[in-house]
Amino acid sequence: MSHDRLLRALRREPVDVTPVWLMRQAGRYLPEYRALREKAGSFMDLCQNPELACEVTLQPLRRFELDGAILFSDILTIPEAMGLGLHFIPGEGPNFHHPVRTPEDIAKLSMPDMEDSLGYVPAAVRLIRRELDGKTPLIGFAGSPWTLATYMVEGGPSKTYQHIKALMYNAPEALHQLMDLLARSVAAYLNAQIAAGAQAVQIFDTWGGVLTPSAYQEFSLTYMQRIVEQLQPAPDGSTVPVILFTKGGGPWLESMAATGCHALGLDWTINIDEARERVGDKVALQGNLDPAMLYARPEIIRHHVGDVLQRFGDHPGHVFNLGHGVTPQVNPDHVAALVDAVHELSAR
Ligand code: CP3
Repeated sequence: MSHDRLLRALRREPVDVTPVWLMRQAGRYLPEYRALREKAGSFMDLCQNPELACEVTLQPLRRFELDGAILFSDILTIPEAMGLGLHFIPGEGPNFHHPVRTPEDIAKLSMPDMEDSLGYVPAAVRLIRRELDGKTPLIGFAGSPWTLATYMVEGGPSKTYQHIKALMYNAPEALHQLMDLLARSVAAYLNAQIAAGAQAVQIFDTWGGVLTPSAYQEFSLTYMQRIVEQLQPAPDGSTVPVILFTKGGGPWLESMAATGCHALGLDWTINIDEARERVGDKVALQGNLDPAMLYARPEIIRHHVGDVLQRFGDHPGHVFNLGHGVTPQVNPDHVAALVDAVHELSAR
């Protein structure tokens, strides 16, 4: 039953061992990723070529006994398709040539055509599903409207969120207009992934945690809820589980669980036993080992994997993951130690 452990756990059904996948399980810590990226030219060349995106998606599955594959792509494909001019500055991260700063800039935007400008994403999903051949389920994903808006308005990574927060406080109606457009775009984008074969989807709300409680509710959670409500069933009629991951969202788990999502992704700043006490059996929980634990020795990693499993306890509804993505400096052997420890220590 290993092939459907992940989907069973997301539905809170019993499993033989706790399933595990890792955010950023494909990426720069793998030498085979670095080699392929070198050959492809750039990161976006990898994302926009379905054969290469498929190959990168499968790379970590060849090394590790992972229970899920995650589509290799990026959350910034949507703003790129809106014409903002995405490029990556080495050592700095993603940047846009045309950031969106004013209500006038927002009024000019429109929803990207899923087929014409983002068709490479469902094409990659179809190819990956064919290659996986039912052995491992495939997770699709998108950024949350708030997280996409932070990159679009700041123009790149930010420490202060100066531009988007000024817009939020000075012109909330304009920001709502942007959020509404992004929520419709993300829902259509995830539905295109589901129609192509994504078997679960995760919404990455990487920057939701920088908001006040009331701004989180108003500008991030409301729009994620709208997306959850708009998602279609899989082509076979089954419900596709949705995982909401707000980094820094620990204080708001109850309201996140009330959106109708099936699972919450937890970062490492909350104990998973406390999270479970607060949301009960309402949703599955995904997480939440500190990603920096992968810098430690394998036997230390194993010990802390055991701690997370023990805190969650012997209940259905746990998907093991890190509290955020694997970083480029990680030794792949340590990832193997983590994955094997999850399966060995959780065997029922
Ligand atoms: O999890 C996976 O294995 C799937 C792949 C994935 C990537 N990006 C690949 C990637 C996923 C799920 C994402 C989502 C993403 N992208 C998020 C949300 C997740 C999170 O980390 O909270 C965000 C904020 C982005 C925006 C983005 N794209 C950033 C900040 C960066 C890193 C830039 C840098 O130079 O460090 C990217 C590029 C990116 N996306 C890389 C990968 C493997 C690195 C590209 C490279 O240099 O090869």
